[in-house]
Amino acid sequence: MSQRIRMGIVGCGRFVRNFIPLFQAHPYVESLAVTDLLPERSAAHAKEFGISEIYPSFEAMLESKTLNAVAIFTQRHLHGPMTIAALKAGKNVYSAVPMASHIEEIAEIVSLVKQTGLTYSMGETGHYRPCSIFCRQKLKSGEMGAFVYGESQYNHDMRHFDYKYSGGENWKQVAGVPPMLYPTHSTGMILSSSGSWARKVASFGYIDQVGDDIFGKGKNLWDNPFSNTTALLYLDNGGIARINENRRIGWYGPMSYISSFHGTQASYESSIAQHTFVRLEGKDAIYEDVGPLLNPFEMQKHQDDPNFTQEVISNKWGSTFAPIQNQKRLPEAYIGMHDGHGGTHKFMADDFCKAAYTGKLSPTNAWVAARYNLPGLIAHESALKGGETMVVPDLGDSPTGWEVLESDE
Ligand SMILES: NC(=O)c1ccc[n+]([C@@H]2O[C@H](COP(=O)([O-])OP(=O)(O)OC[C@H]3O[C@@H](n4cnc5c(N)ncnc54)[C@H](O)[C@@H]3O)[C@@H](O)[C@H]2O)c1
Repeated sequence: MSQRIRMGIVGCGRFVRNFIPLFQAHPYVESLAVTDLLPERSAAHAKEFGISEIYPSFEAMLESKTLNAVAIFTQRHLHGPMTIAALKAGKNVYSAVPMASHIEEIAEIVSLVKQTGLTYSMGETGHYRPCSIFCRQKLKSGEMGAFVYGESQYNHDMRHFDYKYSGGENWKQVAGVPPMLYPTHSTGMILSSSGSWARKVASFGYIDQVGDDIFGKGKNLWDNPFSNTTALLYLDNGGIARINENRRIGWYGPMSYISSFHGTQASYESSIAQHTFVRLEGKDAIYEDVGPLLNPFEMQKHQDDPNFTQEVISNKWGSTFAPIQNQKRLPEAYIGMHDGHGGTHKFMADDFCKAAYTGKLSPTNAWVAARYNLPGLIAHESALKGGETMVVPDLGDSPTGWEVLESDE
């Protein structure tokens, strides 16, 4: 029988405030509790969002008989072990990206979900970016023919992060995390759109040259020398994808986007606010401007502003949604609520709640999340070996008969 969700929020840093109101407003959620290593952070969040239950620790949440779910919003390198512990304690898990930093942890999460039937949903914004939805729909409809080649990237410069906020004096040890250990924004876009997964990877890392003690041997927890990494993925459907995870790059927004996506019959290309779809009719190429479908409604109201492009690259409308994102599948309570990361937050919160309540699989379930995450882990190894082509381990499809919720309907 379906049970409403009694969720423990783990980690009250900067990101979670975007999700607390969405979980609170969801009709399948009964209650929320919070915890943080720093009690002043959980206390402040409890006060701000009217949450009455504060737990002293993550471990106390796992022991609780009341909570049936946890949402993990701790720093990115901590998710794997916490997810494993939560599943072992019988809790459904929503996890911010990435899934985990080690192949073994990812395999254990998949195996625990299979054994227990619990929900695991990874909140991958890339899955719901307008460009991903567009390419996914066009390929699925047959209009693009077969997938040939695509490029996606997550360009987020080090200067726009604040690792000191939770990292304290040793923040550089964590800030130097290999870019490909956080690969799911780029893979989440290109793999969900191409409907495939990576069999092989060959990757090159850019050895950082800034010398500020973030990247390099002995400078971070991973001895990682790379600030930027590029990988070529050979996909199961025969297509090829190029992904970039860049952390030292003279750029701001958009940060996550597909720049090109080619099928045998049609192609999509984008640059800042321009989105072009070209398809062949016989030998003729037919051009379509699909910006009105992919650019946020709010952005489109300002297209004639004299400083329009400046505003776009400053991410002014980066948290609002676009016509292609199907708001009708979301709970009514979400209408008018704040969203984030290209109008993706509501979909991610809704996926987890629907999956945990109905027992169906989230679109970004453990098997899908593994396929988004594993290519990055191997890409980092490949880059350390100077670009050697390596096989990406695969944990297969989700079990037959376990229904998966639709992303776009
Ligand atoms: N586009 C996206 O999908 C996106 C964007 C931003 C952040 N994120 C992800 O969200 C997560 C959180 O990011 P953030 O910016 O809020 O980080 P943050 O550093 O601001 O917050 C993390 C919080 O977790 C707490 N914490 C760590 N270990 C804990 C434990 N064992 N028990 C309880 N609390 C613990 C810390 O004290 C801190 O307050 C990260 O994994 C990040 O990758 C994803």
